[in-house]
Amino acid sequence: MPDKTQHRIVPLIDQRAGSLTVPLTAMTGDRLKPTQGLLIDTRGRPLRDLRISVTDRCNFRCSYCMPKDVFTKDYPYLPHASLLTFEEIARIARQFVAHGVQKIRLTGGEPLLRKNIELLIEQLSALRTTDGTALDLTLTTNGALLARKAQALKAAGLNRLTVSLDGLDDAVFRAMNDVDFPVREVLDGIEAARKAGLGPIKVNMVVKRGTNDSQILPMARHFRGSGIVLRFIEYMDVGATNGWRMHDVMPSAEVVGVLQKELALIPLEASQPGETAQRWGYADANGQHDRAAGEIGVISSVTQAFCSDCNRARMSTEGQIYLCLFASQGHNLRDLVRGDYTDTQLAAAIAHIWTGRADRYSELRGFEGAAPPGDGKRRVEMSYIGG
Ligand code: GTP
Ligand code: 5AD
Ligand code: SF4
Ligand code: SF4
Repeated sequence: MPDKTQHRIVPLIDQRAGSLTVPLTAMTGDRLKPTQGLLIDTRGRPLRDLRISVTDRCNFRCSYCMPKDVFTKDYPYLPHASLLTFEEIARIARQFVAHGVQKIRLTGGEPLLRKNIELLIEQLSALRTTDGTALDLTLTTNGALLARKAQALKAAGLNRLTVSLDGLDDAVFRAMNDVDFPVREVLDGIEAARKAGLGPIKVNMVVKRGTNDSQILPMARHFRGSGIVLRFIEYMDVGATNGWRMHDVMPSAEVVGVLQKELALIPLEASQPGETAQRWGYADANGQHDRAAGEIGVISSVTQAFCSDCNRARMSTEGQIYLCLFASQGHNLRDLVRGDYTDTQLAAAIAHIWTGRADRYSELRGFEGAAPPGDGKRRVEMSYIGG
């Protein structure tokens, strides 16, 4: 039985880029064949969603993501020269979009810390999917800088936004972010985003048992009827620094149980294939979905893995492609964009990476917490590849 006296495991080596990188640049000729259109991986999953991390830094220190004792001021954050430029990011994104990506999410760390992020949004919003439609262009933020930036983000072409918020009670929220940041400012940021027309807005709450589960009902009451979709996320064993224990996970079924004691809920159909959240609608007196009251979502990555239709690729700030949140190896596209490689070769490398993909970590791990094969390897941090 793990208990509070167990030792924290902190990484002694840097698990990013470098030695773990798959050497794409060594591939030439037939191995990088020109490709067109939609890509399907070895488990029949299409590539639809690209998440781009634009910085590995954050102004919060949420214990489940960037615990303060590991992410100190001496932590080896990526040096500026390692970061992809906006032009490099847009060039790579264009090739992903040409291969079926329909949604791009900017993440971090905290993406609003990246200087002039609006300039990147402008470039990405000009891209068109293979159907000729605009991208679903969105961003995940902790909301701290949102009140200041919402207007500019909208003007640059951002469609919508997700705000991470782990509680409404100021003391609980300050403890969760661990930098004493007040909840009021995040709520003001959400309001500014709404006024700027950045909808539909989603709010993501990671539930940690015994830490912020007291906030489940207050959060639901607050956002019910607001048009904002609140989603409860199971605390995951992502990365190697958060000291994850199964005991701290509050299964989504339990969260729904807590909500249903006060608020009637009915299950809703998925709105898109590969959706992370299971949707629940607030019910009216007749047991029908009350659209004005809205809906909530639960994201059950621990207790009900959704790998079977996972269509997401992730790109780190320095241009490493990860095919799973729990991957220990990336594929280095930065060397291609900074080398003498054409767009066709870049696209072929993306095709090579996706068509060889077999990842399904959460399914293999199982609810019982048994380690999947190969789990002894060091995993990347979520602040490095984004959520
Ligand atoms: P929407 O299009 O707005 O519904 O976004 P989304 O649910 O695809 O993305 P979001 O970043 O809001 O995901 C919310 C949370 O779900 C993340 O912060 C992670 O905790 C978790 N999550 C998202 N994608 C994955 C995934 O591929 N695998 C696992 N295990 N968890 C994921
Ligand atoms: N478990 C679940 N979600 C996490 N996030 C970060 N770390 C974890 C974790 N250990 C997600 C949260 C947060 C976003 C930035 O990343 O959804 O809102
Ligand atoms: Fe920052 Fe988001 Fe990670 Fe919290 S969860 S430390 S706000 S990147
Ligand atoms: Fe996708 Fe990996 Fe998450 Fe499964 S664990 S849903 S494969 S990112």
